[in-house]
Amino acid sequence: MKFVPWCLLVLLLFQITTGKKRRHKGTQWWSLAKTGEPSNDLYSPTAQAHIFSSPTLLPLTKKQRRLVTKNPGTILAIAKGARMAVDECQNQFEDRRWNCSIQENGHGGSIFGKIIERGCRETAFIYAITSAAVAHSVARACADGSIYTCTCNYNLRQPHGVDWEWGGCSDNANFGKKFSRKFVDVAEKGRDFRYMMNLHNNEAGRRHIKREMERDCKCHGMSGSCTIKTCWMRLPVFRKVGDILKDRFDGASRVLPGNEGRNDAEANNNGGRRSKKKLKLEPADPNHKRPDKRDLVYFEESPDFCEADDSAGTLGTVGRECNATSIGIDGCDLMCCGRGYKSETYTVRERCSCTFHWCCEVKCKICTRTKIRHTCL
Ligand SMILES: *[C@@H]1O[C@H](CO)[C@@H](O)[C@H](O)[C@H]1NC(C)=O
Ligand SMILES: *[C@@H]1O[C@H](CO)[C@@H](O)[C@H](O)[C@H]1NC(C)=O
Repeated sequence: MKFVPWCLLVLLLFQITTGKKRRHKGTQWWSLAKTGEPSNDLYSPTAQAHIFSSPTLLPLTKKQRRLVTKNPGTILAIAKGARMAVDECQNQFEDRRWNCSIQENGHGGSIFGKIIERGCRETAFIYAITSAAVAHSVARACADGSIYTCTCNYNLRQPHGVDWEWGGCSDNANFGKKFSRKFVDVAEKGRDFRYMMNLHNNEAGRRHIKREMERDCKCHGMSGSCTIKTCWMRLPVFRKVGDILKDRFDGASRVLPGNEGRNDAEANNNGGRRSKKKLKLEPADPNHKRPDKRDLVYFEESPDFCEADDSAGTLGTVGRECNATSIGIDGCDLMCCGRGYKSETYTVRERCSCTFHWCCEVKCKICTRTKIRHTCL
């Protein structure tokens, strides 16, 4: 009885180690998040204005380049999506030990670092939010008219309301989702369990985009009298997608390859071919329900992220700011992993006692306030 799981584990480890190298090429597009930042490489003698780097096709795979070339305008939307994903990830995780910081992706690594080589919740979140962001950004760009091969979605035919009708230009969530599938999922090569996990999380991220679309309306008629009102479907603000995915992160399911996958695993030894349909993700705890399409899944517990560890790609929490009165994960006890913290006072100059003077001026005093900052030892 004990024999089967051991085989599985060995097989899994084998696949995880052999799959590492080839996997990174397809996620290099994440580094497009850095475009739009002032670039040091470019120097223009005439420039008073800042020089910003613009997205290039360099970090893309051949397939991704072909797709982007066939759909002019998408590279800007992808770069914008990558930035949205990083910003939102950092926003959601700013009070946690792992704070989604990004790094230079030298040596073909990922901008999120080695966490991407694991199979933990944080890995799941990264995959979900990046693929969701591409779907979101492309869907919006379609409606803006900045992609040649798509337009608004004019076909949302749902019942009218009493005082409004459908019209106008809905964000093209269908195109965005399909494009994200083609562009993002191509990164996941192989037929192993990790591949299943990443694909599942990519799709989970995208599914929340369309589901959260909202009706937006505009009034027409003489001087805004609103005699006619037209409505269309608008994507949620990306913050909302981030909130939802963070909830899914908190409730993520730990999974194992399912039964069908086990039988098929033997075939993997001779030829490495496994049909992806047959590999099912089963909850690691048989008492839990099977994850649905919108749940995030992982197969490995997260490291504690306490210490800096190059080989694990964790930065540690030394020097992180913490909250001395909170008992949560942002509190100094948990954030500093029990190592303790130091407190420093510092002063800030702020505007205060502002008064309004007719008309139209606000006058303020400058006050000096003392604040305390706690940082982990
Ligand atoms: C995340 O934490 C690291 C230290 O662990 C710190 O250097 C970095 O500035 C933080 N990044 C963000 C985006 O807060
Ligand atoms: C610190 O935590 C307490 C309790 O959770 C909270 O009320 C307070 O606003 C937090 N302070 C900061 C600066 O976040």
